[in-house]
Amino acid sequence: MEDSLKLLIDLHKRAKRQGPGGDNEITKILGLAQLTQDKQLNIVDIGCGTGSASIVLAKQLNAQITAVDFLPEFIQVLKDKAEKEGLSEKIDTLVCSMEDLPFSREEYDLIWSEGAIYNMGFEKGVNEWKQFLKPDGLLIVSEITWLTKERPYEIQKYWDSEYPEIDTASAKIGVLENAGYSPISYYYLPEYCWLDNYYRPMQKRFSGLLERHENSQGAQAVVEAEKKEIDLYERYKEYFSYGVYIAKKVL
Ligand SMILES: C[S@@+](CC[C@H](N)C(=O)[O-])C[C@H]1O[C@@H](n2cnc3c(N)ncnc32)[C@H](O)[C@@H]1O
Repeated sequence: MEDSLKLLIDLHKRAKRQGPGGDNEITKILGLAQLTQDKQLNIVDIGCGTGSASIVLAKQLNAQITAVDFLPEFIQVLKDKAEKEGLSEKIDTLVCSMEDLPFSREEYDLIWSEGAIYNMGFEKGVNEWKQFLKPDGLLIVSEITWLTKERPYEIQKYWDSEYPEIDTASAKIGVLENAGYSPISYYYLPEYCWLDNYYRPMQKRFSGLLERHENSQGAQAVVEAEKKEIDLYERYKEYFSYGVYIAKKVL
């Protein structure tokens, strides 16, 4: 069977974003964090994908951005986009694991990470990345979050096996406090960020993926897994979303 990572890259590198989110949400989040163009900022976008956030941050802030992802294919798309938009000077790219970042202590004013920290785990990530923030620096991170205290068995079981660290916002805020951050704001992504901005465009790319891979078993398996995820989201969307956490380094 073809390498499923290669197939996933082929499906997702053609997308504007590799996870739920939205340009308007980024603007809202910057407002909640009270980030403006007044100050020159040093920012790192960890797990940047093809740069949905890096590009918006570069446009909206007075910032130098380092965009990090471990997939060179995504980084190349981001580089091409940045060049097209005249933003190459503001965005540096780095192919690197989020678990082995080569940064200096207190290098950044802002760590931004959307839909990516689960790859190393929220608790581990927020603890390890804190060293790279300046005193009073900001962490803005999104994380799969339960929206209710209880939920149906099917969706509980699915997330328990996919990402056992999923929890409620209050629990995630507790993790941030224990790691030495002061939580500033919590917000969760509304439905259109999942459906209109992420899943519907993905559904339109399924036929292209299948065609490029001559309907291979591997490509079919990738499409089926994505369809299952979409179906679960559509049926259980009131129970989970990406929570966006804004927190200041204090200790
Ligand atoms: C769900 S996507 C989100 C991408 C982007 N932030 C967005 O919202 O469109 C997760 C990203 O994390 C990257 N990633 C996964 N594991 C990683 C790791 N260990 N180190 C660096 N990047 C990683 C993936 O390549 C992917 O681009």
